[in-house]
Amino acid sequence: MIAVQEDLTIRQQLLQRLLDARERSDALFKLVRPAALYDRPIPERHRIIFYVGHLEAFDWNLLHANVLGEKSFHPEFDRLFAFGIDPVGRGLPTDQPKDWPAVDSVRDYVGEVRSTLDAKLDHDTPPTGDAKGFPLAILLNVAVEHRLMHLETLAYMLHQLSFDKKVPQSSSASAATPPVTPRMAQIPAGIAKLGLSRDNSAFGWDNEFESYEIAVPAFEIDRYMVTNRQYLEFIRAGGYDARTLWNEPDWKWRTECGITHPVFWNKIGDRWFYRAMFEGIPLPLDWPVYVSHAEASAYARWTGRSLPTEEEWHRAAYGSANEGDGDGRTYPWGSAALASRFGNFDFNSWDPQAVSAFPAGDSAFGVSGMLGNGWEWTSSVFSSFPGFQPFPFYRGYSADFFDGRHFVMKGGSARTSTCMLRPTFRNWFQPHYQYVYAGFRCVNR
Ligand SMILES: [Fe+2]
Repeated sequence: MIAVQEDLTIRQQLLQRLLDARERSDALFKLVRPAALYDRPIPERHRIIFYVGHLEAFDWNLLHANVLGEKSFHPEFDRLFAFGIDPVGRGLPTDQPKDWPAVDSVRDYVGEVRSTLDAKLDHDTPPTGDAKGFPLAILLNVAVEHRLMHLETLAYMLHQLSFDKKVPQSSSASAATPPVTPRMAQIPAGIAKLGLSRDNSAFGWDNEFESYEIAVPAFEIDRYMVTNRQYLEFIRAGGYDARTLWNEPDWKWRTECGITHPVFWNKIGDRWFYRAMFEGIPLPLDWPVYVSHAEASAYARWTGRSLPTEEEWHRAAYGSANEGDGDGRTYPWGSAALASRFGNFDFNSWDPQAVSAFPAGDSAFGVSGMLGNGWEWTSSVFSSFPGFQPFPFYRGYSADFFDGRHFVMKGGSARTSTCMLRPTFRNWFQPHYQYVYAGFRCVNR
């Protein structure tokens, strides 16, 4: 009886989180002026209308048959809105707005999915059945975090939409900070403990398991993320034209696509401007530069340094000089609960802030801004940890990307929800995608 009560409480907490996440996703779509719902702001992605249907189709496909014993009421939409796209080295999508259903019919589908799922889930009697042996709580976590992740990737997408097609929102003002002086922090040799143990009841995606330890030799790392000011020097020094700074596929991408600067920048006359979410502003020199993995790697080579490996990043964030406590910190600053004074995350802002704006969030080694304000590229190719097992109900979530063509990112951005600021969360993207809120820092070994 107690176990049933606990299950019910956990389920109701997860349902509340799902309702909160839906509220956020509804608010995000309201930011798009109706005439732009069929636009495609990023060439490699679907039109915006796809995502209106996708968030619900995902929840429905995950839960309706296996867990809730419900029959599909709209199989065509279940399929149409099932999967996003990520073309790497393949052709771009060519569908037209007329190929998509009318927005009212998509919204009807969304409403029907929500009311059917909620009626079944918000009930004292736990739904029968499960998805291949996985408890309902795990599936609900998957639904919640999937939606929260899309809140962030949709923000990247809407960032690229013309300003006049968006309803401006207020953004927390950037605190004035003194100009940043780049410095390196010393990280002594030690152990990094990556991944989640299956003995732990905490939720994690399949790629976060199992936990393992790895020895990390001493290195030094940028105390702050690389700023727009530093990156501007690279551009002025001809970094985009220096063939030796780019590996073969990155150079091919750079030249064939005519990439000459970060996608968030544009030049008017001889002045650089920054594309913020709702307006163009003079380039904020102390904000982290947001670039693709290819651009970050070229910059690192230009300075004679490297991007950190995943384990180096982890050790710089969660390690400490006292080897006795390994890298057992909950957050870089220790165990104090997440709060806005520690970093720019949890939808706090639509844009970055200066890289030095959150000294309270420094790690034990004095590395600043490791959570929030922009994901950070690592040199580690996204791959499985020892003991990896794909979720049987979503086999391709990670495994489809263990292709040697995606790189791990750690940290988080202003649009990353708190639950994904856990130490084991891993993000990944292909190296030529410029639209992510991602920057980097460099290491010396
Ligand atoms: Fe998705």
